[in-house]
Amino acid sequence: MEGELRCPACTSSFPITSGIPRFANLDRVESDKRATAAGFGWQWQHFTQEDERYAEQFLGWIAPVTPEFFRDKIVLEGGCGKGRHTQLAARWGARDVIGIDLSVAVETAFAATRSLPNAHIIQADIYHLPFARKFDYAFSVGVLHHLPDPRGGFLSLASKVKPGGHISAWIYGAENNKWITRWVNPVREKITSRIDQRALLQLSKLPAAGIYLATKLVYGPLNRSGSFLAKHLFYNDYLSAISDFGWREQHTIVFDHLLAPTAFYIPREEFETWWRDIGATGVVIGWHNKNSWRGTGSV
Ligand SMILES: C[S@@+](CC[C@H](N)C(=O)[O-])C[C@H]1O[C@@H](n2cnc3c(N)ncnc32)[C@H](O)[C@@H]1O
Repeated sequence: MEGELRCPACTSSFPITSGIPRFANLDRVESDKRATAAGFGWQWQHFTQEDERYAEQFLGWIAPVTPEFFRDKIVLEGGCGKGRHTQLAARWGARDVIGIDLSVAVETAFAATRSLPNAHIIQADIYHLPFARKFDYAFSVGVLHHLPDPRGGFLSLASKVKPGGHISAWIYGAENNKWITRWVNPVREKITSRIDQRALLQLSKLPAAGIYLATKLVYGPLNRSGSFLAKHLFYNDYLSAISDFGWREQHTIVFDHLLAPTAFYIPREEFETWWRDIGATGVVIGWHNKNSWRGTGSV
């Protein structure tokens, strides 16, 4: 639980505290990355709940990857947050899964995975991963678009996948999100990402309540009943996808969107270049909930 890792080739040493090897020192990372880590660290230490729908949601983000795909693989997760996907990868039979995150979310992730002998949590910056090129599979869900250079984070993650291995990434899309980039982003950039997290927690209950009522009273019922009206609803694919989640989970989603100081909305064309840049083959890019891009390919 406590110790130190020392590099035999140089003088570097890295502490292990509370069971987590620490390869990143938050006091020393660049200020933009530190601000992002501070917000998400707080978020994942507050919203520690688990939800049975996480598995289905995760599979939607990494499709066409299935639970069977994880069996016996050495897996890397870039930006594990509270560890919900690290947990699933371990339960689905990964030989070992290492979840890395820059923020203090690693404390929550460690607590969530400590009973799983094949799950490991490390505090590290996705741009400076302390690994050799040993992974069969790497994935990153909802992280790359919060980095100062999303493509750089993707390339860094891909560089740890061994030849013939696979990588999956899910990012916000530019397409169909103009209402967010035009109306929500200025509020997020100028106000909500700068205020105290406790104040944002309360403030975010207002839009979360609107979304909660809309999904429970309109989107959920109309989509479940197969009404022709459903497809005419604003942002229907996404809002119907989250309509089964309860209040706490929907509040987490709204809080998450308002919290991040950095969030890029990336066009498909740009996402495609990332895959070309790593020389990936068999790439499958999918339009998820008509508001985001998911991709999987072989390195
Ligand atoms: C929206 S959360 C997603 C967490 C997790 N993938 C999930 O879906 O539950 C984004 C995560 O990226 C992490 N993150 C941000 N910048 C990072 C960096 N430079 N290196 C590693 N993790 C980072 C944050 O701390 C946060 O936990």
